[in-house]
Amino acid sequence: MAASALPLAPFRRGKVRDVYKVDESRLLLVATDRVSAFDVVMAEAIPHKGAVLTQLTAWWLRQLEPAIEHHMLTADVSEIVREVPALRGQEHELAGRAMLCRRSVVFPIECVVRGYLSGSAWKEYRERGTLAGEPLPPGLRESDRLNPPIFSPATKADEGHDQNITIAEMSSAIGARSANELADRSRQIYEAGRAIAAARGIIIADTKFEFGRVGVREGEAGNAAAGTVILVDEVLTPDSSRFWPADKYRPGYPQPSFDKQPLRDYLESEKLAGRWDGNYPPPRLPRHVIDATTSRYLDIYHRLTGAPLNTQIA
Ligand SMILES: Nc1ncnc2c1ncn2[C@@H]1O[C@H](COP(=O)(O)OP(=O)(O)OP(=O)(O)O)[C@@H](O)[C@H]1O
Ligand SMILES: [Mg+2]
Repeated sequence: MAASALPLAPFRRGKVRDVYKVDESRLLLVATDRVSAFDVVMAEAIPHKGAVLTQLTAWWLRQLEPAIEHHMLTADVSEIVREVPALRGQEHELAGRAMLCRRSVVFPIECVVRGYLSGSAWKEYRERGTLAGEPLPPGLRESDRLNPPIFSPATKADEGHDQNITIAEMSSAIGARSANELADRSRQIYEAGRAIAAARGIIIADTKFEFGRVGVREGEAGNAAAGTVILVDEVLTPDSSRFWPADKYRPGYPQPSFDKQPLRDYLESEKLAGRWDGNYPPPRLPRHVIDATTSRYLDIYHRLTGAPLNTQIA
């Protein structure tokens, strides 16, 4: 399913999720099967991808309870319909992919935590010896493990690429107290997640969290004296994180990633062949690329949670 159409007021539509307003205190997040790569949304949907994102987030939030306060009320379709009777009859569209959430005022910050030196962090380190503007020891190799993990925030850009910022810039945007709270929690959640995933043969190289404040008005997220900070959005999914198979880990090189690698490889080959310039519109995806991508998402769900996703319902 590439787009949802539910009888609720639209709140926002992201690249992947359709968000609806239920009432003043609750939102319905619906993860569609849309997929983006290189910041371009593909024309084709990836079957079961939305359900993997929602059910994996729900699973992680249950693992992290009760230490971590979060936004999930329920990701169970019958409970959602019981709570929101206007959704009766839409069960098929909701099953597996919808999450009823507490509505929060989201901090305009991507809380990135890096436990391995990869991607744009490796690029910054190679060029300047720093990560998020802070010096790192010399001699690190690509994909090396970072101890302790490093918090490297970015702004949430409405258009285009997120911009990396320093902790000082984050503090001036949302206040030092909130900035410290988000940095501490991000590291805490990442470290808990990294340990759980490691026991299942998966390295979480890096990830991105979003936080919001409940009990305050719009624009008041940084008011550290009011309300409560909660973890929102998706959590430790293949779309918000870089997952590596531990048995293939080779520091000193880039690592194969679990999820969108077949899609990225295909798009790279289309670029190299001069058939795609990297902008919208993307090339059509062949069936085998779609199927391989679905398999990757289902595989990561199974490996992490220990049980296959119920694909009968979603
Ligand atoms: N509990 C919550 N309260 C308020 N907003 C939330 C909550 N949880 C998630 N959101 C917001 O819902 C949206 C989810 O949609 P999605 O992730 O597809 O879009 P996005 O990340 O904003 O943009 P894109 O992914 O297209 O770059 C995000 O804007 C996120 O900040
Ligand atoms: Mg998002």
